[in-house]
Amino acid sequence: MAAQLCVALDGSDRDWIVATARQLGPNVDWLKIGLEAFTAHGPDLVRDVCSYEPSIFLDLKLHDIPTTVARAAANCARLGVNLLNVHAGGGRAMMEAAVEGVREVDPSGTTKVIAVTILTSLDSSALAELGSTDQSEELVLRWAKLARQCGLDGVVASAREAAKIRRVCGPDFLIVTPGIRPSWAAGNDQRRIVTPVDAVLAGSDILVVGRPITTADDPQAAAANIFAEMNS
Ligand code: C5P
Repeated sequence: MAAQLCVALDGSDRDWIVATARQLGPNVDWLKIGLEAFTAHGPDLVRDVCSYEPSIFLDLKLHDIPTTVARAAANCARLGVNLLNVHAGGGRAMMEAAVEGVREVDPSGTTKVIAVTILTSLDSSALAELGSTDQSEELVLRWAKLARQCGLDGVVASAREAAKIRRVCGPDFLIVTPGIRPSWAAGNDQRRIVTPVDAVLAGSDILVVGRPITTADDPQAAAANIFAEMNS
């Protein structure tokens, strides 16, 4: 499939989130609701945003004991979202429980479950500080393979690892990539960033872009520019 664009609606202002969803929804493939918006406005906001055109990615990065994650993931699926995620660091039992929880309420597979490998805001010195002895790329590949074995549909991963994940996990494994920065945008707090075209060339399926679009003077034009770069 051609790579798709997902806009991260990161914010706490409900009116802004709904207005941005209405403005950008028809022009992008996905909208993403994350922790900031969810902790401010909860499931009602998700239901509201689900009424707009694109597919919805609920990015709560679930990470807890298997039973808790299974029930929380099932609740996310009941909201009608198309994609949700859990931390691969929660391990095999937790990832398998998440998939089971979702499939119980969504046997047809409308809601995909993916794993977060390493946050794109963590560079190797941050990982070393956390005690990781693996290089971040090895850890990402190991966690991506484990996620696939656990029945997950894909991973969130930096484009820097996308090509290797594709080779190891196959053509049907969804690779969702944040940390995208077109050359004209600021890096903000992201550390392992790549351009839209490099992410597409690396094999990413869904490019997640937040601030370069949402803080642009003209968000629709910024999204169109990124689409153009993705297809260039
Ligand atoms: O504004 P920016 O483009 O940096 O937004 C990136 C989005 O992707 C944020 O919503 C962030 O929470 C999310 N994300 C990330 N790194 C991950 C997983 C999700 O940046 N590994």
